[in-house]
Amino acid sequence: MFKIIDGKEVAASVRESIKKEVEVLEKDGKKTGLAVIIVGNNPASRVYVNNKKKGCAEVGMESFEYALPEETTTDELLELVEKLNNDTAVDGILCQLPLPKQIDEKKVLNAIAPNKDVDAFHPVNTGHIMIGDHSFLPCTPAGIMEMLKYYNISVEGKECVVIGRSNIVGKPMAMLLLGQNGTVTICHSRTKNLKEVTRRADILVAAVGKAYFVTEDMVKDGAVVIDVGMNRNAEGKLCGDVDFDKVKDKCSFITPVPGGVGPMTITMLLKNTLTASKEHFNK
Ligand code: GUN
Repeated sequence: MFKIIDGKEVAASVRESIKKEVEVLEKDGKKTGLAVIIVGNNPASRVYVNNKKKGCAEVGMESFEYALPEETTTDELLELVEKLNNDTAVDGILCQLPLPKQIDEKKVLNAIAPNKDVDAFHPVNTGHIMIGDHSFLPCTPAGIMEMLKYYNISVEGKECVVIGRSNIVGKPMAMLLLGQNGTVTICHSRTKNLKEVTRRADILVAAVGKAYFVTEDMVKDGAVVIDVGMNRNAEGKLCGDVDFDKVKDKCSFITPVPGGVGPMTITMLLKNTLTASKEHFNK
């Protein structure tokens, strides 16, 4: 019998402990603040940014929104980032992606001070993750590790297979699983005999971006299946990378979409912002 990994329940538990820590800091006169930059009119970005601001309010953090017009230049955005880097009320800076195409995204992300980089996208922070010595972890992989911990799912010695090699999910996910002594394989679009590889997995993480990509023949009996996908199916309904209804009966644990990994991502952003705040006040 499979067990559902309830992302909402884990997120609520982590947010509760973040809220308590934020309160303790605040009693010492130390406010925690997140700057959220949004450029242009992407409706999905607007929803994400609103949810991030709502998350801040829920745990007692301040959020400062900077909404810039679609035609903003790289230099204008760099100027704002520099201002926020030097603003002591700002502990974390988040620049919502994607940015309009005239903006040099890499230049902007690399300009965010590493100690305020709560997305953990800066090369300094990705380097820290590589050597297992980190302050900030990328939000989605970190959220997955929290879920595994909450359900007492040990990674040690397990065969872990990650489908997807993005800088935001696949690569850091592999590092975090390796950091907990998993035996890790990363698969991608050029992987030969994908099914043979995924069938070895005790823990299978799907971060492909294709609806219903993982089918029951790709999953070992008793596997833990984590679905990072956020897709729309032919009827326009939200669905993951895993064909949940067919795969679930083979699993020991499985995350649903929605209600699995999704609720954890913003929670880990809040956790990174708290970490940044504590580090700033320790200086
Ligand atoms: N756009 C989609 N996902 C993310 C994310 O995790 N961080 C930022 N900054 N933008 C995003």
